[in-house]
Amino acid sequence: MILVTGGAGYIGSHCALRLIEEGRDIVIFDSLELGHAETVETLRSASRGSKVEFVKGDLKNRDDIASVFSDYDIDAVVHFAAYSQVAESMRDPEKYYYNNVYGTLNLLSAMRDAHVDRIVFSSTAATYGEPEYCPIDENHPQRPINPYGNSKLTVERIMDDYDSAYGIRSVRLRYFNVVGADGRIGEWHVPETHLVPNVLKSVLSPGGVFSIFGTDYDTRDGTCVRDYIDIHDLIEAHILALGYLEGGGRTDYFNLGTNDGSTVREVFSECEAVVGSKIPVKECARRPGDPAMLIANNTKARDVLGWVPKHTLNDSVGSAWDWERKLSDQ
Ligand code: UFG
Repeated sequence: MILVTGGAGYIGSHCALRLIEEGRDIVIFDSLELGHAETVETLRSASRGSKVEFVKGDLKNRDDIASVFSDYDIDAVVHFAAYSQVAESMRDPEKYYYNNVYGTLNLLSAMRDAHVDRIVFSSTAATYGEPEYCPIDENHPQRPINPYGNSKLTVERIMDDYDSAYGIRSVRLRYFNVVGADGRIGEWHVPETHLVPNVLKSVLSPGGVFSIFGTDYDTRDGTCVRDYIDIHDLIEAHILALGYLEGGGRTDYFNLGTNDGSTVREVFSECEAVVGSKIPVKECARRPGDPAMLIANNTKARDVLGWVPKHTLNDSVGSAWDWERKLSDQ
């Protein structure tokens, strides 16, 4: 079976769904602090005969995660469970180190004790910090500028040591900006901080106005540039990474992005095109900690994993819009 930690959250649930549709038996491990019980139910109902088990537990409780390895026959782990809000991590770093680092240590320790030697890990572009050049390749220095990025980089380093000492091989996938939804499940953060869902929510909430954070950056239209990667393409990389490890691949790390960037204004225009109407907008001050530009160089994932992202920003915004409307009807 494949263990999916954080499988009731946004990205974890999309990976769980893909594994279920491939007929793989999975165990979802989630505290439901940020993930949703409704998502677990949707995942269960997607099964066509494969096992979809759910364990409510917290990685910070060593016994919670250790018991998963004694109760189920786990072959490999895909590890999503983490806190991921940069601003919150600045206010409360302990929360991030305790959950993201200590929680992952408990997971790795349980894997070692159960002789499970393969893990795919959700890392982030935030491990690079302020870019020294763009597009960013995997050789770019990793100097995070916030505790969230530090917590993920610390886990990457721990994983190197767990490979050297205990033979646990890992693939670390460094996500850029993930957008889109399957439709049955989707992005469901409370509170929501991300660009595309915030633009779309402003359409659906009465009197809603979308806020652009910063229009004085040194970019082509003054707003920040990000590399938006579709959730389906992102999940495809996880499936390839699992196959890579199953085939004996060694520990490695890959950027997941498109090699292309869009400004906040460009994404906003794409949202207006998808929604089919003008969206009220106001220009606000910069959000602290936002770098002007983050674009991935994805050559390594293409060359080593054979990963080819296929979806456009229009696809991603379109599926996010379908999901937001569904969410607002609930
Ligand atoms: N933005 C707005 N208004 C909003 C929300 C966002 O203008 O209401 C802007 C931001 O200022 C930024 C861009 O839209 O310029 C993208 O912001 P997101 O919050 O969607 O994404 P981030 O680039 O800040 O963060 C993402 C992940 C983080 C990860 C980071 C890596 O969500 O987990 O990339 O750099 F750390």
